[in-house]
Amino acid sequence: MEVMTLHVDAGSGYDIIIGSGLIDSAGKYISSALPKAKRLFVVTDSNVSPLYGARLVASLEIESFEVHTHVVPAGETSKSAENLISLWEWMTAHAITRTDAVVALGGGVVGDLAGFAASTVLRGVGLVQIPTTLLSQVDSSVGGKTAIDLSTGKNLAGTFYQPDLVLMDPETLRTLPDREFAAGMAEVVKYGCIWDAGFFGFLKARPGREALMADIAHILHTCCDIKRQVVETDEHDTGLRMILNFGHTLGHAYELSGGYARWTHGEAVAAGMVTAAKLGVALGVTGPDVPGQIEAILSPLGLPVAIDCDFSDLERAVGIDKKSAGDDVTLILLERIGAVRPMKLPKAEVLDVLAGMYRR
Ligand SMILES: NC(=O)c1ccc[n+]([C@@H]2O[C@H](COP(=O)([O-])OP(=O)(O)OC[C@H]3O[C@@H](n4cnc5c(N)ncnc54)[C@H](O)[C@@H]3O)[C@@H](O)[C@H]2O)c1
Ligand SMILES: [Zn+2]
Repeated sequence: MEVMTLHVDAGSGYDIIIGSGLIDSAGKYISSALPKAKRLFVVTDSNVSPLYGARLVASLEIESFEVHTHVVPAGETSKSAENLISLWEWMTAHAITRTDAVVALGGGVVGDLAGFAASTVLRGVGLVQIPTTLLSQVDSSVGGKTAIDLSTGKNLAGTFYQPDLVLMDPETLRTLPDREFAAGMAEVVKYGCIWDAGFFGFLKARPGREALMADIAHILHTCCDIKRQVVETDEHDTGLRMILNFGHTLGHAYELSGGYARWTHGEAVAAGMVTAAKLGVALGVTGPDVPGQIEAILSPLGLPVAIDCDFSDLERAVGIDKKSAGDDVTLILLERIGAVRPMKLPKAEVLDVLAGMYRR
């Protein structure tokens, strides 16, 4: 098995290990990263558990860990305060100690919920992320953000908490529905757009899921390495990390207008990136060829490159978005593929240009 390793210098530092079939040797990697852990608390969801739960638990038990498993229903609604409390009570009922660890096996929902639980139970225990969706492998498992949703909004309570280890088995992506794979690809393309024109070209030369899967370990490694560099510079999200929001301000408007049900996050971000590129062209910042280049790479993946939405939702997203303060809004624009440029602009000007684009 070929294995790639990345070291992230955030928190006390941790490794991201990428390798096909890694699930079956997770126990070995966890015992070397967390030599004092005796009990492991596996958190997973109702889709992932039947696919990979037994294999993971077997690999942990071979290393003599005492393993407990908690399965939450698949879906965003599991990122709840109720589930967080259940996890705390389950772990403490099984006598978790501060040197034991939580193992999150699943997508971003499981990672965010289990990460929050790990960061708070006993004021913090060990945390191993085993992301199984493309989105969680390239995005949510790197960076140390955890969260639950509140009735007042998504991700409104959470912590910054770096894991002790991240294990990625690209083979797990084979069971992912096409729509989830494509949603993760939107974030993959985003890294090319903001950071690495060469990587963008690499993706462009591999249209479709099969071609991408043939080089998936390299793709995961490249994305994690870009996020690593950004996160190491700005661990607590006060500066550079904002460039990771390319396509996200408009994307949030599309998610909102679809009631968070019609579009996946990745689909909304896909259309958000194209519109942000068009907005950049209209503002004279972005090269005129850029929107077409991004479209050319997203379309073959079945991702939308434009989404209709109420103008009021756009205004609301630009106006109330947490990235904006006062009368100005910071937009993450591209100068060209691979060169991102955050720009502070008056909200009124942005809405004017957007209104013009939407009238056309
Ligand atoms: N912490 C962060 O920095 C960060 C960053 C981005 C997103 N997020 C969060 O991540 C969440 C979205 O993550 P997601 O897209 O992974 O969603 P998800 O965890 O809901 O997974 C998507 C679907 O795929 C299923 N699934 C997972 N792995 C599978 C596999 N290998 N085979 C088949 N099915 C599988 C899940 O059960 C679920 O139905 C959101 O809650 C978002 O807020 C967090
Ligand atoms: Zn995103």
